[in-house]
Amino acid sequence: MLRTQVGIVGAGPAGLVLSQLLALDGIDSVVLENKTRQYCEERIRAGVLEWGTVELLAQSGVGERMRREGLVHYGIELRFAGRAHRIDFKDLTGRSITVYGQHEVIKDLIQARVAADGRIVFEANDVRVEDLNTNKPKIQYFHAGESHEIHCDFVAGCDGFHGICRPSIPSAALKLYERLYPFGWLGILAEAPPSSEELIYAYHERGFALHSMRSPQITRLYLQCDPEEDLAAWPDERIWRELHLRLAGGRDWKLNEGAILQKGVTGMRSFVVEPMQYGRMYLAGDAAHIVPPTGAKGLNLAVADVRVLARALKDFYSSGRTDSLEAYSQTCLSRVWKVQRFSWWMTSMLHRHEGNPFDHRRQLAELDYVASSRAASQSLAENYVGLPMD
Ligand code: FAD
Ligand code: PHB
Repeated sequence: MLRTQVGIVGAGPAGLVLSQLLALDGIDSVVLENKTRQYCEERIRAGVLEWGTVELLAQSGVGERMRREGLVHYGIELRFAGRAHRIDFKDLTGRSITVYGQHEVIKDLIQARVAADGRIVFEANDVRVEDLNTNKPKIQYFHAGESHEIHCDFVAGCDGFHGICRPSIPSAALKLYERLYPFGWLGILAEAPPSSEELIYAYHERGFALHSMRSPQITRLYLQCDPEEDLAAWPDERIWRELHLRLAGGRDWKLNEGAILQKGVTGMRSFVVEPMQYGRMYLAGDAAHIVPPTGAKGLNLAVADVRVLARALKDFYSSGRTDSLEAYSQTCLSRVWKVQRFSWWMTSMLHRHEGNPFDHRRQLAELDYVASSRAASQSLAENYVGLPMD
């Protein structure tokens, strides 16, 4: 039997940032992850860090490589109806965002935890959480064929949307809010220098497209597609043809092509569970909420949750106070719903909705309004760079 203060399920951004923050406050944790270390470190996902996420990672001692290799951006471009409009974050908010892949953040966090003798159990199978309504919750799991049990004071459910923590809560104790979208993203990673210094969000009659990047040598590109899209129908030439059409810019702009290193289709949903807590288990990140990726918020929201949780646990261990823990769900949800609103808004403004020409005209008017009104641009910018974390 093992003992720790906080048992964390999941070594994604939520679980790893939480264990790092707790360690800085002298609070012991064990992270249980069902995949291998290599899998976690190579899984390609999000790429945009809000300024608050960057600050928090740097203050937590895991920002050195991010500061060196991350690409600091002071704006994004919107393309629609043959026009290009830059949203200038610096002018509108005084802030920037940093493009640094989620898997790079994960590598830095795992390295920091391992270097500090932090306990992360990879390939932990059949993880189960028990006795959540007592002061001594337990986590059971199998590792290398043997059964193990961890006794903890608290459990942090950081195991993503498909994890086991949220389904372990009796359904009557939770309220779910969900919206599915009739489209997905086909994403590629290409061995090509980015074609623009900043991200380009394009609304086109053929559907949305996004130009992003991972480094000065690697471009990340997305196309709106059917959520059940068959990748076999998308040979490389078709992907490039479609990207050229949807991202088309002015005469001087050219999309760089290169070998496609990775291809995948992601569905889109908005999802929130309330409350984000049951007994002594706290849910954080994708385990509690999902946003469509158009606002680049999933990872940032996961980090914002665990920042609140780490502070509440610090209050508990340093002075026995439980008020911050009791307020955890409410504190997080006030940010979660604002981020849900922003991600839904960006998604509905930028994706082509089949069937109703009214939506198309309304979206063009909305983009024109954002491009022509300082107030509207500022609203987009302040949400994109990240609302204050307090
Ligand atoms: P996760 O990163 O999902 O981490 C959960 C961890 O728990 C994983 O390591 C998982 O292996 C582990 N786990 C799951 N079940 C168990 C179990 N039973 N036992 C033990 N461990 C378990 N956001 C963007 O902003 N832009 C993007 O382009 C983007 N692309 C995405 C692509 C995909 C395919 C997915 C799934 C998400 C994407 N996101 C994107 C969202 C963003 O990556 C997530 O919001 C972010 O990873 C949330 O972090 P998390 O730690 O809460 O969850
Ligand atoms: C990415 O680089 O993967 C990315 C960037 C912006 C988004 C979504 C994904 O809105």
